[in-house]
Amino acid sequence: MYVCVCKAVTEKQIHAAVQAGARTMKDLREQLGVGADCGSCGSCAKQYLREARSEAVQMASFYAAA
Ligand code: FES
Repeated sequence: MYVCVCKAVTEKQIHAAVQAGARTMKDLREQLGVGADCGSCGSCAKQYLREARSEAVQMASFYAAA
């Protein structure tokens, strides 16, 4: 699903960026261009960023416990 239509950024790209180290909206804007045009994707992108960060923390905890 497209999160940022202006820059054609998908939910999967946001998840991949977080796995590669993105942690903030500024990171997403610099790496993918999310929110850099009309800005209407901001709240939706933040939600996906939160979800992706949460999943990354859960995965790190899982592998740390293994
Ligand atoms: S929809 Fe993301 S900047 Fe316009």
